Amino acid sequence: MRTPTPQDKFTFGLWTVGWQARDPFGDATRPALDPIRTVSELAQRGAYGVTFHDDDLIPFGSSTADRAAHIARFKNALDENNMKVPMATTNLFSHPVFKDGAFTSNNRDIRRYAIRKVMTNIELAVELGAHTYVCWGGREGAETDIGKDPVVALERMREAFNILGQFVIDKGYNIKFAMEPKPNEPRGDIFLPTIGHALAFINSLDHPELVGLNPEVGHEQMAGLNFVHGIGQALYHKKLFHIDLNGQHGPKYDQDLVFGHGDLKSAFFLVDLLERYNYEGPKHFDYKPMRTESDEGVWASATANMRTYLILQERAKAFRADPRTKAALDKSGVNELMQPTVANGEGWKEIAAESFDAEAAGKRGYHYEELDQLALEYLIGVY
Ligand code: GCO
Ligand code: MN
Ligand code: MN
Repeated sequence: MRTPTPQDKFTFGLWTVGWQARDPFGDATRPALDPIRTVSELAQRGAYGVTFHDDDLIPFGSSTADRAAHIARFKNALDENNMKVPMATTNLFSHPVFKDGAFTSNNRDIRRYAIRKVMTNIELAVELGAHTYVCWGGREGAETDIGKDPVVALERMREAFNILGQFVIDKGYNIKFAMEPKPNEPRGDIFLPTIGHALAFINSLDHPELVGLNPEVGHEQMAGLNFVHGIGQALYHKKLFHIDLNGQHGPKYDQDLVFGHGDLKSAFFLVDLLERYNYEGPKHFDYKPMRTESDEGVWASATANMRTYLILQERAKAFRADPRTKAALDKSGVNELMQPTVANGEGWKEIAAESFDAEAAGKRGYHYEELDQLALEYLIGVY
């Protein structure tokens, strides 16, 4: 297996390896990580870049002078390690001011403050060379349906994205937004909970072309959904602007495991899909090193994400290239789906006039069992 290189475009959030493992039941198990060290450790392991929330880099409430000093150190580390910042995002969830949401807080001043916080960090993102701005609305939701009118909340969400879109247009920034859906946690229920909800919402915006998606493996799986299908739809609508890779075991709390350490088979078909459709954005790992780990385990987990991706990439490629796979795909009729249902020049009349032996066609077997087993054997390295 080859080692990761910057050409693979692997990126990590500062908050991922930097997670101190505080959870609702326990204190931190690891000391804080200096972002400067994170940049160099990740660069040594072959990563392409890092991403950050404003507050990961510049502690909330920092003075202007402190802010400038944090940015200067960070820039220096990026330059020294030839690391990029392709994406940045805003923390609109940690401070108590956001406990009832940011863009959808019932308090108008908080909504305006949240938009201002995003704009401030977009300026920094642009300065650092980012072209994608992720928006994860972790606190945009409710615990009780009487607490927030869900129709009105979407209107406020729409206003926020319209204002931010106008901001980047007026400033001439080369920035696109990527919304990150999640069904729940930290709110009981979060607005725009899945890829599909977010896609529909984007169409309501003044500038839908500026807004796409940053889907996360675990988030769709928390909702019991098929992530590969979700990514398929995002690709179909040309809205896969960014991706958060990690691992999850079915519908439960957000596990944020290493990529592939949850539903491995889904991870295999995901990599297969991303590679076949030439996804060219960063492969961004949004995971949490287990709470049990010390510093060594943190870096082992960072490497594990990249290795898993590369292994699955190699396995998927070999699977697709095998003549047995090609034969099994033909037998299953997978490629028949490429053929348009209605030929050029045909319309409903031709379809209406046709006769067909449904009994005979219903007897066909699709041989998916063989195909699925073949994929599985590739995945586990039998071939
Ligand atoms: C989560 C989210 C976050 C976001 C991040 C970027 O479930 O905690 O995935 O990690 O990706 O805040 O906006
Ligand atoms: Mn997550
Ligand atoms: Mn995420």
